[in-house]
Amino acid sequence: MALLTGDVLFSVAVAVVIFLLVFDLMHRRQRWAARYPPGPVPVPGFGNLLQLDFEDMTHCFYKLRHRFGDVFSLQFAWTPVVVVNGLAAVREALVNRSEDTSDRPTVPSFALLGFGPKAQGILAARYGPIWREQRRFCVSTLRNFGLGKKSLEQWVTEEAACLCAAFANHDGQPFCPNILLKKATCNVIASLIYACRFEYDDPMVIRLAELLDDGLKEDMNLKLQIVNSIPLLLRIPWVAAKVLPAQKSIFALNNELLAEHNTGWAPDQPPRDLTDAFLTEMHKAQGNSESSFNDQNLRLVVYDLLTAGLMTSSITLSWALLLMILHPDVQRRVQEEIDEVIGQERRPEMADQARMPFTNAVIHEVQRFADIAPRTFPHMTSRDTEVQGFLIPKGTTLFINLSSVLKDETLWEKPLHFYPGHFLDNEGRFVKREAFMPFSAGPRTCLGEPLARMELFLFFTCLLQRFSFSVPEGQPRPSERGVMSFLVSPSPYQLCAVAH
Ligand code: HEM
Repeated sequence: MALLTGDVLFSVAVAVVIFLLVFDLMHRRQRWAARYPPGPVPVPGFGNLLQLDFEDMTHCFYKLRHRFGDVFSLQFAWTPVVVVNGLAAVREALVNRSEDTSDRPTVPSFALLGFGPKAQGILAARYGPIWREQRRFCVSTLRNFGLGKKSLEQWVTEEAACLCAAFANHDGQPFCPNILLKKATCNVIASLIYACRFEYDDPMVIRLAELLDDGLKEDMNLKLQIVNSIPLLLRIPWVAAKVLPAQKSIFALNNELLAEHNTGWAPDQPPRDLTDAFLTEMHKAQGNSESSFNDQNLRLVVYDLLTAGLMTSSITLSWALLLMILHPDVQRRVQEEIDEVIGQERRPEMADQARMPFTNAVIHEVQRFADIAPRTFPHMTSRDTEVQGFLIPKGTTLFINLSSVLKDETLWEKPLHFYPGHFLDNEGRFVKREAFMPFSAGPRTCLGEPLARMELFLFFTCLLQRFSFSVPEGQPRPSERGVMSFLVSPSPYQLCAVAH
């Protein structure tokens, strides 16, 4: 009997192994197609998952690019992935082939956040009518609520004054600016989506800032890659319960804010904010089963704007202050320009930007050097396409390596150094650079770019107008190396802000 059980077990094991190998081969057969991009050899079942360092994908991609070229392939379990590097290939993929490359891969774990056929938010939405409807709605509503208008500018300037007051409270003593920067950028987004502002000591905004940090870290871990590559695992309740804990909490918090906000909505009154405008569209779409204006999608759209808008701007500002304490000569030149163009009596305005080429160059260089979204959000091919002569089949996940463009050795004089001269000509005039694409390009390019630019200029100039920043006495010089997660943040540091 024991022998029989042993025989049976052996046969079952062999059958399972053969089944898995055949299943694996079927999922990998496109690799043998002519002109499929080269890449490291995958291991059955896991593909290249175990060969990659998810904590530092930028470096991993850098090494693989040197080995395999600008367009190379990987395999995440059974998901085919192609990584696109360098300005020419990235532009070809995102701009020339935009109709083929603007889809997003399904992320199975997002179903735990309520992602479904008619509720996809914007960031992770499939390229199609649902995404188009929401993208158009967000762009036009943000514009109506002040993007490009004086009102939002005044709002950001007033928030910058609150931020300066909070910096001044530290009385020149060392502190880490990150949490204050998050609260300030949170208030800009909150004004647009909830028509409200949080005091800096409000427990809600403190909790939100902490959760957003945790959420960023959980986006890139290996466990999540494995469950997303083998979605069957999400059917196991204890696995599902352990996935995305921080993002589920942000969602719950966002639901609380929305519930509170929505009690004040009056359909006959002009919308106070983007959420009111969405509720109005929902009202109009009642009975239309095709519409993406529904309760669940409202949560996802607001969640996307909040998370995509808050962390990106605050992390960039944190980089900007870090680079100012590490490069006091650059800080001094920005302050001289502020003194010349704005002075100390009035607040900075967007109109000043055109007359401040050095400051503008510094902000661009901060974004290039910080390189905070090195791989964008994954794209996916919606049909067979070609990039740099390589054939990329429909349904392939695309990682657009923005880092390879922002730090390209052939395009930038000092790619690995902070050097504002990258954006200045010999006469000190600001020059645009084609390879400057921290917001990506093509149809999925960042929809918050104009808002982000406004925030970066106004917060940065307001802070530098009011304070001189330095490394606290006796502390070592902070590192210029970033901390990798889904976004790249500066390593934790402290500064002193001494009022002028
Ligand atoms: C310095 C600040 C920012 C940077 C560097 C940045 C960068 C990016 C990048 C790289 C993408 C992905 C593009 C792609 O997939 O190819 C993106 C998408 C997006 N960003 Fe931003 N972003 C910033 C600020 C903002 C702000 C303030 C908002 C909110 C108003 C925002 C909202 C979004 C949204 C909704 C998407 C998804 C667009 C889509 O899939 O159609 N971002 N951003």
